[in-house]
Amino acid sequence: MTVGDIEYLPYKGESQIQELMSLIERELPEPYSIFTYRFFLNQWPELCFLAYCKGVLVGVIISKKQPHKLLQRGYIGMIVVDKEYRRKKIGSTLVKITIEKMIEMNCDEVVLETIITNIQAISLYENLGFIRLKRLFRYYTMGADAIRLFLPLNDNFIPQYYN
Ligand SMILES: CC(C)(COP(=O)(O)OP(=O)(O)OC[C@H]1O[C@@H](n2cnc3c(N)ncnc32)[C@H](O)[C@@H]1OP(=O)(O)O)[C@@H](O)C(=O)NCCC(=O)NCCS
Repeated sequence: MTVGDIEYLPYKGESQIQELMSLIERELPEPYSIFTYRFFLNQWPELCFLAYCKGVLVGVIISKKQPHKLLQRGYIGMIVVDKEYRRKKIGSTLVKITIEKMIEMNCDEVVLETIITNIQAISLYENLGFIRLKRLFRYYTMGADAIRLFLPLNDNFIPQYYN
C-alpha cells in the first residue's frame, strides 16, 4: 500500500532484521536482543509491517498473536517511526494495517504496553479507539511504570476479565 511517498510493506524475512533493529534501537529506550526480534518475526512474520520513503526504512511495527484465557489476543510489541518522519500518520497507518491483519487472523482484541509518560504513543492509540486498561508499576527494566492499552475487536470482550 502507498500513501503519498510512503510505501507500507509486509516483512519479507531475515534479510531485513538488521535494518529494522537499527531503526528501533535509535528510537526506543528499552534495548531488545536479537532473540526477542526473532521470537516475534519468526513466529508471526505476517504481523510485521515496514514503512519506506524512497527506499529508506522510516517506520516499523512488530506484533504477535497468542491465546489469552478464552480469547485470541493480538499484541503490539514494538512500533517506531524515524524522528524526521513523525506526525505524518505513519505510526497510525502501521497500527491500522496491523489491526486489519489481526482481524483477518481472528484476533478478539489488541493489547500493548507503553511507558506512562509516552504521550505521543498514548494519544496515537487513544485516537484509534484504544482504552487504558491498567497501570503496571515498575514494568520496565529502568523502573518506569507502563500503561496497558486495549482495543476489543468484537463482542467477545468480557469486562470481568479485566478488572
Ligand atoms: C509513537 C510514534 C510511533 C508515533 O508515530 P507518528 O508517525 O509520529 O504518529 P502519527 O503521525 O500517526 O500520530 C498520530 C497521533 O498521535 C499523537 N501524537 C503523535 N506524536 C505526538 C506528539 N509529539 N505530541 C503529542 N501527540 C502526538 C497525535 O494525537 C497524533 O495525531 P495528530 O497528528 O492528528 O494530532 C513515534 O512518536 C515514535 O516512534 N516514538 C518513539 C518510539 C515509541 O515511543 N514507540 C511507542 C512505544 S509503544
